[in-house]
Amino acid sequence: PEGVGILAIELIFPSQYVEQSELEVYDKVPAGKYTLGLGQSRMGFCTDREDINSLCLTVVSKLMQRNNIDYSSIGYLQVGTETIIDKSKSVKTVLMQLFEESGNHDVEGIDTTNACYGGTAALFNALAWIESSSWDGRLALVVASDIAVYAKGNARPTGGAGAVAMLVGPSAPLVICRGVRATYMAHAYDFYKPDLLSEYPTVDGKLSVQCYLKALDFCYHLFCSKIEKYQTNEGHENQPIDIQYWDAFLFHSPYCKLVQKSLARLVLNDFVRTPEKERSKKFPGLEHLGNVKLEDTYFNRDIEKAFMDYSRSIFEEKTKPSLLISKQVGNMYTTSLYGGLVSLLISRDIHELAGKRVCLFSYGSGLASSMYCLRISTNVRPGSSLNRLIENLSHIKSLLDQRKRVTPEEFAQIMELREQNHHKAPYIPSASPDVLFPGTWYLESVDTMHRRKYKRV
Ligand code: ACO
Repeated sequence: PEGVGILAIELIFPSQYVEQSELEVYDKVPAGKYTLGLGQSRMGFCTDREDINSLCLTVVSKLMQRNNIDYSSIGYLQVGTETIIDKSKSVKTVLMQLFEESGNHDVEGIDTTNACYGGTAALFNALAWIESSSWDGRLALVVASDIAVYAKGNARPTGGAGAVAMLVGPSAPLVICRGVRATYMAHAYDFYKPDLLSEYPTVDGKLSVQCYLKALDFCYHLFCSKIEKYQTNEGHENQPIDIQYWDAFLFHSPYCKLVQKSLARLVLNDFVRTPEKERSKKFPGLEHLGNVKLEDTYFNRDIEKAFMDYSRSIFEEKTKPSLLISKQVGNMYTTSLYGGLVSLLISRDIHELAGKRVCLFSYGSGLASSMYCLRISTNVRPGSSLNRLIENLSHIKSLLDQRKRVTPEEFAQIMELREQNHHKAPYIPSASPDVLFPGTWYLESVDTMHRRKYKRV
């Protein structure tokens, strides 16, 4: 099949948020630490009425409804998440409730987990199914969702929650590039969840940032080399690849400041890849930085500042539009990178998006990371698949504004409630479902056998 990629996207986030500037006061940290230091405005969160199953039920039913898709047209469904509430039963099987009425039980795929990387793994698996001998002509559904919560302390403001569902198939308006993909996987204890009774991760914050940047360096270097080689094999001119090759650069976003630093780091990578004699021409004003070694620079303030300043306009052009949702909702873990894609699609006019080449960097602690590319269709005519995909995201901006603001005190109480009742059975959630957006699935009850029942607003 030709043009395999993303046909439709649905994104959801919590209906309540806490203001980061108010959280700074409540947490007694210097003003500006979360808003300027981390680059975050607001943080979305869920009450005890929502869990990973309800988020995924909501996002899938909304995608299917909005795009008028029949459940029997789906042949593959994979869920990427690190929000584990059951060590055996998958979220995917919970979602099969939605397929019941259609009578379609012939749906391959299951859950996939490694921190924030699971959504990308699910997408790659869906693409592989469509390109394989097992493909039966039907469409694939990729779901990525998480509730990101941290124990009280310096990581708490980097929480968030959300879910994305993507319909994958041929002749797509967002085509995933074939033949080139770069991956870096390694063993690290930067962020992990060894305590199965707690929702909270064990985090080495500084190490997680270092691992992220190291993975980024590796993937970018490999990706550029692979594209250069691919071009030669395809008989094209062997043109050296640098950041200008892409029109947009999207990153997994734990917090927006790290993404801006990451974009700057790609320019640093370009600098390192450029032969010394060409540097003064390509990077005027930076040549004095000489022979920097990438692995010595993860926390080098001078290098960071020099490249942040130098890359500011590239950031504004290629990356900032993709941070719209991340800044307003926070880290959505597996959803984060795809929230970046949605942000880009709703921030630019369709004519500006047409034909653009987008690079995506996916990172999951532990660690797993990949860089890949997609191409936006050039067909912007009314009724085109690109038009429909973007039109079906037109509600997102106003939905962000319709959310309810909650005080840091209330937020802390809600977190406390989640903490105390996580895994409790039997359990009836106490938060009101009234604040949820229309069409949201929520947890009605957990019985003595830990069986969860859901209802829709
Ligand atoms: N005004 C402006 N900026 C400020 C202020 C202020 N008053 N105070 C502090 N800052 C800046 C700091 O200088 C720093 O910026 P810099 O890194 O550019 O210097 C930033 O705010 C954060 O301050 P730190 O002291 O570094 O923050 P802290 O160590 O308390 O926590 C961290 C940050 C490690 C990211 C923590 O939130 C965390 O552990 N989060 C979870 C892990 C994470 O998200 N890792 C990223 C990759 S892995 C993943 O996706 C989960």
